[in-house]
Amino acid sequence: MKLYQSKILGTGAYLPKRILNNKDLEAMVETSDEWIMERSGIRERRIADTKNGEELTDLGKNAAEMAIQNAGIDRNTIDMILFATLTQDQPLPNAATTLQSKLGITNNCAALDVDAACSGYIYALTLANALIQTGQMKTILVVGGEVLSPLVNWKDRTTCILFGDGVGAMVLSQAPEGDESRILASHLAADGAGKDLLYIKAGGTTTPVTEEIIPTGEQYIQMKGRDIFKLATRAMAENSRIVLEQAGLQKPELDWLIPHQANIRIIETVAKFLEMDMNKVIVTIEKYGNNSSATIPIAFHEAVTDGRIKRGQTIMLAAFGAGITSGSMAIRY
Ligand code: ACO
Repeated sequence: MKLYQSKILGTGAYLPKRILNNKDLEAMVETSDEWIMERSGIRERRIADTKNGEELTDLGKNAAEMAIQNAGIDRNTIDMILFATLTQDQPLPNAATTLQSKLGITNNCAALDVDAACSGYIYALTLANALIQTGQMKTILVVGGEVLSPLVNWKDRTTCILFGDGVGAMVLSQAPEGDESRILASHLAADGAGKDLLYIKAGGTTTPVTEEIIPTGEQYIQMKGRDIFKLATRAMAENSRIVLEQAGLQKPELDWLIPHQANIRIIETVAKFLEMDMNKVIVTIEKYGNNSSATIPIAFHEAVTDGRIKRGQTIMLAAFGAGITSGSMAIRY
């Protein structure tokens, strides 16, 4: 069977306007700018105003329109929208169909949400690549984004310092014959034994959010940070090792690392494993914190836009998230 290659034609990103910095958090919980910076590398994060035009799919529309424009395509040539998210506007319908409607796409393209928490974007890119490789689709809009702030307990200093909102997007399309741009390799994994390390107990079908639940705080993100830290670094290193092997690449051949932005110390550990200086790592965590499936496409877009990432370069993506899910991908841009 003939296999096609897929190429990133265009990227986009959109961040909510409101900035919440560490000083603001000092007034909300017992913490300090110094502690947050030293332990996580985060200085500020963005918070969406969902009641005033900043629903997840509004942010998604802005990011996607930028990606479509940068790709130079007609939006009605998109065959599918894949939306990596764990924070849909509402339980039904999915975010991808709402986004299709907000984008004014009228060609009945397929629309699917992908939930693998913070690994969601690499999962979605891997699925998109497989559909393009096998010739089933030609052009896929791959969006990754979250509005996590309503799911954060703003009284819990162990979690509220970490998370933020935002969306990134890419248009992935069948590469012209002979084009060197392609996804070189990817590896996805999950270790369900870690499902109780990061979770939201209430809000699903087992435990709906009721008046009795609200005072318990079970509708918010709960996390065992130290345990995740260890599993995250191990999974990102192992997946990246597998991807290098699959792609036939050596560590020095990597031009850039774009890791999921959860903690600067996790990022530094993965960079060390890949023997990459930190000036070869795209870092956005200080400005945006952890916006889950949005961190990689936002960082990618920023580095393409400011000229750091150039056509022909080789990039490693690596992520982990609740589950514990994880994934790495090597791309020739
Ligand atoms: N300000 C001040 N002190 C704090 C704060 C805070 N915001 N939070 C915790 N502390 C205290 C703790 O109570 C503890 O005090 P104690 O020693 O008296 O008990 C001390 O600081 C150290 O706490 P630790 O949790 O051990 O700190 P650590 O160095 O592990 O850093 C952190 C915590 C930043 C959460 C880190 O563990 C981490 O980033 N882990 C990974 C989490 C992660 O990546 N989550 C996202 C996953 S992706 C997804 O799917 C959404």
